Amino acid sequence: MLDAGNLLYKRTNIHKGPSQERLTAETIIDIYTGLHYDAVGVGPLDLAGSMDLLKNSGDNGFPWISANLADDLDKPLFKQWINRKAGDTDIYITALTAPPGMMPSGIKILKTETVLPKLLKKFTGAKQKPFIILLSTLTNDENRKIVEQYPDINLIIGADRSRSNISPKIFKNCLLTQTEKQGKYQGLLEIIFGTTRQWGMDNSKELADLQNKLGSLNWQLRRLEKKSKLPGQSEKFKTTILRLNNEKEAMSKKIDSLKEIIQQESVSGAANDQFIYRFIRLQKNMPNDQPTVGKLHILNSKIRKLHKNNKQTSQSSKLIEGMAGYPVCETCHEAQFKFWEKSMHASAFMTLVEKNKQYDLDCLPCHLTIDASNSAFTIKTTRGYLSYPVRMQSVGCESCHGPGKSHSLNPDTVSMLRLPDRKTCLTCHSSEHDDNFDYEVKIQNISCPAS
Ligand code: HEC
Ligand code: HEC
Ligand code: HEC
Ligand code: HEC
Repeated sequence: MLDAGNLLYKRTNIHKGPSQERLTAETIIDIYTGLHYDAVGVGPLDLAGSMDLLKNSGDNGFPWISANLADDLDKPLFKQWINRKAGDTDIYITALTAPPGMMPSGIKILKTETVLPKLLKKFTGAKQKPFIILLSTLTNDENRKIVEQYPDINLIIGADRSRSNISPKIFKNCLLTQTEKQGKYQGLLEIIFGTTRQWGMDNSKELADLQNKLGSLNWQLRRLEKKSKLPGQSEKFKTTILRLNNEKEAMSKKIDSLKEIIQQESVSGAANDQFIYRFIRLQKNMPNDQPTVGKLHILNSKIRKLHKNNKQTSQSSKLIEGMAGYPVCETCHEAQFKFWEKSMHASAFMTLVEKNKQYDLDCLPCHLTIDASNSAFTIKTTRGYLSYPVRMQSVGCESCHGPGKSHSLNPDTVSMLRLPDRKTCLTCHSSEHDDNFDYEVKIQNISCPAS
């Protein structure tokens, strides 16, 4: 069980002290510990909170590794590598941390060319060639450069945030792969270890395939030969039989040479490494891991407690700037209000309350009235959402028509956006929360009636 890193936070620069993000990070560490990960690379996003969480968890046995993260005196902050054994094969796992946007004080990133060669030398010192895995938060392009410079690495598992799943690809003699960020997928990579430490074709599988094909070719030939023996049919199948016989001959030759290769391999004991892989999408209908569910429950009550008590101190004024709230719109647009009132948008906040999630900053924004029609608007994890006034709760009029305070005061001079575009809807109906959103269809369902 490996993770290349960037798992604790979604953004850089998490403010110090208690926060939903900090509580979530602590829970992730707790859950990963329960799942018995072998190694987790430290990514720049893991450094976004305070260093004490990282260091303490590392001291308590959390399997962080990083070859290049060091203190002021160049002393590594975490284990630089671990090893495992699979049959006779020694597996070494190390990790490279990409430089964070803002370096926490007291730590630094050592140069790859100073740390990696030394480690690789240590790993390859043994008689039998080990299998070397690098967990990396560098970009996919940077990983390719590393492959070119350090041919001893057999597998790089990346965490390039600009990419999603990358199916394993052999580049030089290294397999490069990664799974989509934030745990949306798990990657299952099964490796059949050979001895040459080269990635290769599965010769015995190819032999079996060819033998199967030869079998069906023979069957076809026998059938045609039988048919051509019938009176007056001998000319009809002549060319086809000739062609099939040629194919048969070529295939038999291929089979013989493959058999020879396999024979040689078994004598020398040399076989290539092979792999099979699968990306497993984490779906809602999968059975829950009960201990994890329990931990998430505790996290939610911690978040509630934290936010319930500190609600008053948070600032929503900037988020609702220029907005009036639906009761104001109702005064002049009764017909549209009556229509909206019955829609799911109007009960979106209640939906969260029913789930006990009305204090969760990861849920709130899309279940409130936000400036979604503004193309410059992006959803941020901001505590301001906690102190929203009731008139702005749920997906109100201004989520679609834009802020309308000045229109409400001067409807004759200040006009409103009439038809919200697709992008406005997608601010909330993102693929993550609504994976089959069809604008053309859904816009019909929510169009307010004419007065
Ligand atoms: C004081 C009365 C008043 C209030 C309050 C008011 N409106 Fe209007 N609204 C109007 C009038 C008048 C028009 C113009 C109607 C027309 O031209 O047919 C209008 C037009 C609109 C239109 C249609 C724009 C178009 O180009 O066709 C939308 C959308 C709209 N209002 C949304 C809102 C929203 C959202 C609110 C609350 C933030 C709101 N209005 C508050 C009076 C009001
Ligand atoms: C501020 C966020 C937000 C915006 C903007 C938004 N929606 Fe929604 N929408 C929601 C939420 C949240 C729900 C679910 C509410 C619930 O069930 O409590 C929802 C539910 C719906 C539903 C009912 C459920 C379904 O999928 O059939 C439709 C239809 C819909 N939205 C269409 C739209 C369209 C079309 C737009 C753009 C014009 C839009 N929405 C803009 C947040 C938003
Ligand atoms: C990026 C915007 C967004 C965020 C963040 C978000 N939601 Fe929603 N939510 C939606 C939209 C859009 C719908 C309607 C989708 C549909 O009906 O298919 C919805 C529907 C729902 C529903 C009703 C439909 C269902 O799936 O049962 C629930 C419950 C819900 N959300 C809870 C949550 C919770 C809990 C969180 C936080 C963990 C959350 N939402 C965060 C946009 C969001
Ligand atoms: C989910 C998005 C959404 C929400 C929320 C929403 N509307 Fe609309 N509204 C629309 C769409 C779409 C139309 C139809 C535009 C068109 O067909 O040109 C519309 C049309 C209107 C019109 C013009 C009606 C006409 O043809 O004269 C008014 C006024 C209006 N809405 C007011 C409101 C008010 C007031 C609210 C809140 C009580 C509200 N809307 C909530 C999407 C929304």
